[in-house]
Amino acid sequence: MAERVALLTGGGDCPGLNAVIRAVTRRSLDRGCEVIGVREGWRGLVEAQFEPLDDLAISGILPRGGTIIGTSRTNPYKLDGGVERVLEHFGREALGALVAIGGEDTLGVASRLHDEHGFPVVGVPKTIDNDLSATDYTFGFDTALTVATEAIDRLHTTAESHNRVMVVEVMGRHTGWIAVMSGIAGGADVILIPEQPITVEEACRDLQRRHERGKDFSIVVVSEGYELTYASGEKHQIAQEPAATDQFGHVRLGGVGDVLAREIEERTGYETRVTVLGHVQRGGTPTARDRILATRYGLKAADLVEAERWGTMTALRGDAIVEVPLRDAVAELKTVPPEFYEAARTFFG
Ligand code: F6P
Repeated sequence: MAERVALLTGGGDCPGLNAVIRAVTRRSLDRGCEVIGVREGWRGLVEAQFEPLDDLAISGILPRGGTIIGTSRTNPYKLDGGVERVLEHFGREALGALVAIGGEDTLGVASRLHDEHGFPVVGVPKTIDNDLSATDYTFGFDTALTVATEAIDRLHTTAESHNRVMVVEVMGRHTGWIAVMSGIAGGADVILIPEQPITVEEACRDLQRRHERGKDFSIVVVSEGYELTYASGEKHQIAQEPAATDQFGHVRLGGVGDVLAREIEERTGYETRVTVLGHVQRGGTPTARDRILATRYGLKAADLVEAERWGTMTALRGDAIVEVPLRDAVAELKTVPPEFYEAARTFFG
């Protein structure tokens, strides 16, 4: 069994990271292991930044958002000698196992290190986007969904008072999980997501139909990754800095809400406002569901380390926490199934 277990959190933070850190650490300490936090994701292994985690370090962190060991979007495969330095520092610290807590990017690196170098790694699926395959849900998603749903509820009352259309832009990158689920939960009148790109014209028609039925306010939820799509076939992805990408090649999305709101106002004549929820969806305390899921994932990850099940990831299937191959989790994005969008669409217009 590994005597020194390392932990890292990579990619965008999300509520529940500390709950995983606490669970992995507690169970590993109980088994007599030492636990080492790697600072700021893969950067900590590239630059040899470590901090020991003991009982005191994990005390009181269960309800805290963010991550006590920091995070970054560092990709060792994009840095000169990055992978060699990861391997060297891992060996030099006499680490026997790594628990990598992350989304497709962080776990993609973990999977590659395992396949190419036999790296002793176990993954835990994190992301508010819920776009990782091989698991029903990632932790962090429920909190983001709850924040977005509450925002939609709040926007309803102001929309109704002013007879306005309120456009809510939510995160989710290239999948529409947050948009569809918060839209269903909050009773959105139109939802636009990357997977089922209805046109701007269709969205406006739905709003007009609703107004003809006597409802003179509406809520539109748009996912940041929705490409503005027109009946002509024209499509535009709206990104904040089209030229800049991170080390994993992602553009910074955001801004589609503004453009869509202008389009709606011009095409329908209805006064329209936009709210961009942004990082509020990622901050703050995790929901009870996320705390429980993150805790169960963390305990399972410690068990996988003890059993030396390298190259695996903890996953949720139904109500059970199971192990799956890491490479299955990162092979493709988990998109919103059409039946979820169909359910939401029943209430459009
Ligand atoms: O992957 C999580 C996420 O919040 C996405 O929904 C969003 O597109 C991105 O991260 C934002 O990244 P950053 O924190 O770098 O602005």
